[in-house]
Amino acid sequence: MTLAQKVSLTAQQLPIDAHDGAAGYLAGIPSLCLPDLVFNDAGAGVGDGQINTTAFPDPIVQASTWDPQLDYAFGQALGAEAHAKGIDVQLAPGIETDRIPENGRNWEYMSEDPYLSGQIGAAEVRGIQSQHVIVTLKHFIANSQETDRGASGPPVDSADLSLRTLEELYAPQYDVAIHQGGAMGVMCAYNRINSIYACQNPETLKGVLLHQFGFPGFVVSDWGATHSTVPSALNGLDIEMNVSPGTYFGAALQRAVQSGAVPMRVLDSMVLRILRAEFAVGVVNDPPAAQPAAYAADVSTPDHIALARQISEEGSVLFKNADGILPLTAADRRIALIGTDAGPAGADLVYNAEGSGRVPEFGTNPAVVSPLTALTRRAAASGDTVLYADGSSLLDAETVARTASVAIVVVGNSESEGVDEPNLSFNGDTCTLIGVCVPPTVAPDALVSAVEAANPNTIVVLDTGEPVLMPWLAGAKALLEAFYPGQQDGVALASLLYGDVDPSGHLTETWPASQAAQPIQTAAQWPGVDRPGDPLGPHSAYSEGIFVGYRWYQAHHVRPQFPFGYGLSYTTFGLSHLVVRTRRRSDAATVSLAVTNTGTRPGAEVVQLYVHDPANTGEPPEQLKGFRRVFLDPGQSQTVTLRLTPVSFAHWSDRRRTWIVTPGRYGIAVGDSSAHLPLRRTIRRRWARLSPRAY
Ligand code: NOJ
Repeated sequence: MTLAQKVSLTAQQLPIDAHDGAAGYLAGIPSLCLPDLVFNDAGAGVGDGQINTTAFPDPIVQASTWDPQLDYAFGQALGAEAHAKGIDVQLAPGIETDRIPENGRNWEYMSEDPYLSGQIGAAEVRGIQSQHVIVTLKHFIANSQETDRGASGPPVDSADLSLRTLEELYAPQYDVAIHQGGAMGVMCAYNRINSIYACQNPETLKGVLLHQFGFPGFVVSDWGATHSTVPSALNGLDIEMNVSPGTYFGAALQRAVQSGAVPMRVLDSMVLRILRAEFAVGVVNDPPAAQPAAYAADVSTPDHIALARQISEEGSVLFKNADGILPLTAADRRIALIGTDAGPAGADLVYNAEGSGRVPEFGTNPAVVSPLTALTRRAAASGDTVLYADGSSLLDAETVARTASVAIVVVGNSESEGVDEPNLSFNGDTCTLIGVCVPPTVAPDALVSAVEAANPNTIVVLDTGEPVLMPWLAGAKALLEAFYPGQQDGVALASLLYGDVDPSGHLTETWPASQAAQPIQTAAQWPGVDRPGDPLGPHSAYSEGIFVGYRWYQAHHVRPQFPFGYGLSYTTFGLSHLVVRTRRRSDAATVSLAVTNTGTRPGAEVVQLYVHDPANTGEPPEQLKGFRRVFLDPGQSQTVTLRLTPVSFAHWSDRRRTWIVTPGRYGIAVGDSSAHLPLRRTIRRRWARLSPRAY
């Protein structure tokens, strides 16, 4: 390859007319049989300006299924649609840790727990790349907030954290997605880490990702997250993406190589990483569909739409079901359906959150089936009628609710990339562009309270991506969180409400009981404070350290509103016969137990396994190290076996710069949420020093 050919692979080409609808592309080299590398967003389907693709539920729903097999199927569908659309790099999955409940992009990430994010993320990676489309894990790393994200220059927030915090809470999911999933692309983030930009950070990019994990693929910058030529190239960035053509790479990189500031072997290694990803995933052997036909193609299929529905059904979380009001029975003859997020058809429903992860990024999506449409159809099949009020008038809402036997109120918040929520209050905003959000005419809290006052049988359905405070919770008979359910919104909701499927989603994030009772308590933690002498932006101190999410609640004995891992079903389950086997010669352990459906309806349970390290390790009380989703018919029982590996018992030592196991007694706790762990044993572990690449 000539020098010009090599640098051409390192920077975005503009204009992107050749690939309408995509986020950006690198021009291929036809004489070397290298196709264009076309990048497209991704979290809930093939998004950006693409048309005729399936809008799947958002990543938080995908994770709330606790079902890696389903997420593999989702990845396959996503990869297939991308390939048929002429795309060979999907800008997903987002696997950062949900540190702050108000973070504007938690819906696009998976969980506050890195083990869960790693398992779900790795499954999605395998699915996408099976279709010869490269993934990009994002946004590497400690990308926990949108305030001062620095997408178009300062202020750029700095995430200030210790190596132990980074290794234990923010990095494991990348290790798993790379080594178990085979991910060949990583996107470095907008933020800084300990004052240094993520896309030129020697400690995180070169140290953790490249050296510690041995990541073999390419690193691409978030759009506009490149801030230099030489430090970026030397510290592990391979591709600059931007809204303008290569500012720091491309021609500027060519000059740096010619002057000797960037050695040729560094450029060769960048090119090798890009080409290795292309060959390993199959992009060169099986390039995606050609333009312009691909842009117009309808790539959504009945199977993909059914999958979107299944993810929404499995990922919705039932929080409350007093008096068994759900599922709806034949006695529910007149059903009041209330709320802007309930319909009518063609309304701008909150089916995906706002941002580059939305499908499509702009405008309404005609494929979305509203709750009003789907529930009316489903109710008719049971001889029921649906009365609708859009919730813009309290009087109308009360009138409709009063005349019905049951009132269902659907309230949502469309969160957006680019902005955090100011607090946990339920504002009910609708966002139409990144960061452009408007409040509703009637606030959701007022609407729900009015409906509850008018009808004692009120069922609340939420469409939010983050926890919200619910002052009206005691007055609601049932509460179902559908998050951002994708285009099968109403269809999935109707089948859950009628019990055609059993709710089985479990929370991947803790829901605080109040603004004060949660891990993030100071402005220094979030959104960060300025530091004298640093003109680039504020600093967010990760002073809670490894006590993120449920780890903090349990350590501080604070009761959340709803705990991590929680979710109800229409049936009941029993867990019993816990057996923990350790082998003398190995540091692994096998945990098995029986799960029984003790109720009268078919349903799925999510068995969760937590490990309790000895107190002198300084670790949080309990940490998720295994899980399994099990579907059972009434009366049916199944033995579940979960494997623990040496790293399940390890913590990071900053002094030794690796994983160590402290000798002592370790607790094994099994249950169906972080707050309900009825089966317990302890086992002994010996001292061990593990490899830094332990996952
Ligand atoms: C910025 C977002 O942060 C990133 O997630 C996305 O992939 C790029 N824009 C491209 O749209």
